[in-house]
Amino acid sequence: MEFLTLHEIAKRARNNLDKNTWDYLIGGSDTESAIRRNRYGLDSWVFRPRILNDVSSVRAGTELLGSDLRIPVLMAPIGSMQVFEAGGAESVAEAAAEFGVLQILSSVCLPDFETLAERVPGPRIYQLYLMGDQAWMDDLIARSIEAGYTGFCLTADTQVYSRRERDILKRHVPASGGQAGAGSQTFNYQSTMTWETVAHIKERFDIPLIIKGVNVAEDAKRCVEMGVDVVYVSNHGGRQLDHTRSCIDALPEVVDTVEGRVPVLVDGGFMRGADVVKALCLGATAVGMGRLEALALAAGGEATVLRMLELLEHEIHTTLALMGVSDVKDLHPGLLERATPMVEPHVLSAFPHLAEGY
Ligand SMILES: Cc1cc2nc3c(=O)[nH]c(=O)nc-3n(C[C@H](O)[C@H](O)[C@H](O)COP(=O)(O)O)c2cc1C
Repeated sequence: MEFLTLHEIAKRARNNLDKNTWDYLIGGSDTESAIRRNRYGLDSWVFRPRILNDVSSVRAGTELLGSDLRIPVLMAPIGSMQVFEAGGAESVAEAAAEFGVLQILSSVCLPDFETLAERVPGPRIYQLYLMGDQAWMDDLIARSIEAGYTGFCLTADTQVYSRRERDILKRHVPASGGQAGAGSQTFNYQSTMTWETVAHIKERFDIPLIIKGVNVAEDAKRCVEMGVDVVYVSNHGGRQLDHTRSCIDALPEVVDTVEGRVPVLVDGGFMRGADVVKALCLGATAVGMGRLEALALAAGGEATVLRMLELLEHEIHTTLALMGVSDVKDLHPGLLERATPMVEPHVLSAFPHLAEGY
């Protein structure tokens, strides 16, 4: 049966995955409060819609790093995608290319970046976790340029691997091999990364640089001063430092600081078209979908990732029309207002009918 709602996709993913894989996807660090706060933040904004504007045709397309995005959405980097569906990153690559959005490929999933580039031509962005010294990193950046990647993303919020207690409680080591804490071998080199790493990449390589994991204005300012090409607001979907602000709440100060000099991306808790529209109102260029991408992959591979994007587009178009806005470029903060959330936030609270057994 064809999926007609994102609800059905989330439900099918739940049915398809074993408990270890489900917990790896859905879980976060420590108390998982950052996950809930991401949703709480999104649900704390409501719309102030306008009426009697012609919305007979709405435009949600935008542009990032020279690539057209059919909707202002990116496939966020997800490690070990092959555990959700055998095609892994390749299934997402095919769906993203067919639909017309950018994929950010994680360095810790299959197929690897060179194999994928051969099989599914870009544009595509490569996200790297440092697992070697500077020469190792340089080699990978050079090879990613050679393979045709159009952007390079450093994830800066993973200095060490966090304590994912769902996994630890079961003594389960996920496919990405994550081991919690400072000194763990898995992410040893990540903890050595500094602003000098950023300066080195900008000096040495001619590829747009994205810094993912920005949370505060001070770091956004430094990114822009150092020539970083895209600032990506993220708390890693509540999987790294716990007790952070929700990303939608971190967004406005970053947007204010960046002052339109570079695009600002955001992720964390975004599951619905209306969520995406809220971030655009607050000045984001595009929104990264993390768990939703993996849920769709787990629910039915490439075809369901494509279907998820179509449903998201439908939700975005409907939201825009009902807000009286015919083009995403006309969204602005005056179309939002603070309000108390109506539902108890949790990782899947964007799908309230799941609890009712649909
Ligand atoms: C299963 C899983 C694996 C992830 N792996 C990576 C990764 O390899 N690299 C990275 O930068 N972020 C990774 N992330 C974080 C996502 O890129 C993104 O920041 C986060 O999922 C956004 O929050 P959301 O899941 O609520 O949409 C991962 C997230 C999940 C759920």
